[in-house]
Amino acid sequence: MVDEPPVDDRPFLPGQLLFPWESDDAPAAPKQSPPQSDSVSTATEPEPKLEPELVGEGLDAPQPPAGSDSPAGDDSAAESDATAERSKPVKKKPNKASSQTDVSQTAESAKAESTSPPPAAKVKATSKRRATKRRPKKAAKRRRASAKSTRPSPNNSQQPLKSYHDAMEYIPLKWGAQLPKVGFGFWKVDKDQTADVCRSVIEVGYRHLDCACDYGNEVEVGQGIKAAISDGLCDREDLWVTSKLWNTYHAPEHVHQACQRSLDDLGLDYLDLYLIHFPIAQRFVPFEKNYPPGWFFDPDATNPVVEEARVPMHETWQAMEELATSGLVRNIGICNFGTSQIRDLLSYARIRPAVLQVETHPYLTQEKLLRYCDQEKIAYTAFSPLGAQSYFSLGMADSSEAVMESDVVRNIATACGKSPAQVLLRWGVQRGTAVIPKTSKRERMEENINVFDFELTDEQMTAISGLNQGRRFNDPGDFGEAAFNTFLPIYE
Ligand SMILES: NC(=O)c1ccc[n+]([C@@H]2O[C@H](COP(=O)([O-])OP(=O)(O)OC[C@H]3O[C@@H](n4cnc5c(N)ncnc54)[C@H](OP(=O)(O)O)[C@@H]3O)[C@@H](O)[C@H]2O)c1
Repeated sequence: MVDEPPVDDRPFLPGQLLFPWESDDAPAAPKQSPPQSDSVSTATEPEPKLEPELVGEGLDAPQPPAGSDSPAGDDSAAESDATAERSKPVKKKPNKASSQTDVSQTAESAKAESTSPPPAAKVKATSKRRATKRRPKKAAKRRRASAKSTRPSPNNSQQPLKSYHDAMEYIPLKWGAQLPKVGFGFWKVDKDQTADVCRSVIEVGYRHLDCACDYGNEVEVGQGIKAAISDGLCDREDLWVTSKLWNTYHAPEHVHQACQRSLDDLGLDYLDLYLIHFPIAQRFVPFEKNYPPGWFFDPDATNPVVEEARVPMHETWQAMEELATSGLVRNIGICNFGTSQIRDLLSYARIRPAVLQVETHPYLTQEKLLRYCDQEKIAYTAFSPLGAQSYFSLGMADSSEAVMESDVVRNIATACGKSPAQVLLRWGVQRGTAVIPKTSKRERMEENINVFDFELTDEQMTAISGLNQGRRFNDPGDFGEAAFNTFLPIYE
């Protein structure tokens, strides 16, 4: 078991994340990814103070002016920034033509095992937080004014972009964290290609890397990160690295070990975001027996099945909170949760989920879930943003289900002078979500991140959203039985 979390006896405000670097005497938060000169949001360091006027007040209390430079704890400011950002016209200089070099043409086959045993727990429990000293209002206002005066403008100058990273936009989270709106997903990136792919995507300009224990390639992602850093492409603090807690590690005593294993594999000492991968707890598989363990409890059994474990989510979440308060991860969140599960989680969370990651594309627009997250100030990341594309090779989608091939998307792409993939990703970021497309091809890496130099009209946005069919490709309730001999519904 990990140690008891430090007690925070201040009143908990809905929508407020609590982190150890809130107080002056807590360890300093590592620097969050600073947006580049022409990025939209500009907070460069966590603002750890609660504004005096906000302490003890609810979300309906009057809020200071919007801006990501607003003080920590200012939910409405962060939200207003996100909203303003969504509606802000994007006028960016088009980027240069892409390189055509393929990084990999290999088939998608990422399931691989690592047999090294888990490292010993390294997290030191943080000391009990002392009461937060409050900064005078005037000082906070001065900070905001000063930050605004130095805020870089979007890249609408004639300066050529140094990399696609220069055009990136961000979803502001609390404490100055900035989630890059376009990230790169590592699911099904071939293990042998992953280090090169990772270095390449960083070179292209991606700073948001979406990883998971279950993808079986965190060691190789770590090698790519290391190569990129040693080649001077970025610093660790420029990156946003997400990993995910696999289903077999939901019991509180395994959460820390699982996170530490991902960190060790990635060669990092903190994660920017750690997500619960699925709201399904599976029976524990020892790290040294099978890693990543995947879905089967015992793949060598005569009739292998998924074995569930009865672990209440509140216990898993408390262990996730301990990771956050220890500083091992900066943000915690969830994947594949619906509104009822989120609502329940919010009823006991001391640290609210910063991000929900869930399948979203024009055939599964998730309007209500997205709106609920907006209401609860939970950032939203769309996985499989290109729709069926990822599921053909798995036999989980029919070729007729390619949203990229729909007339609506193709006609809009032609009208915009963009590719269907760029239209789908632009639709995703323009409706306020982050998107994390995967590809192993260099030209597609450039294509997929290059979505900040055009804007879809309201009519085009509506037409794309109108394609919704409620079609979910990644549903354990469907693939569980076919692939793993186990009926595993989670969305019903
Ligand atoms: N939390 C979860 O439960 C969960 C579940 C699924 C996925 N995810 C995350 O989300 C990421 C993205 O989702 P995904 O990988 O399922 O799907 P995706 O990124 O929507 O689609 C990937 C597929 O589209 C192809 N593709 C990529 N760019 C293209 C382009 N510009 N034009 C045409 N085809 C293109 C890729 O082929 P090539 O590689 O050949 O280019 C690949 O087959 C994952 O990698 C993972 O990190 C999370």
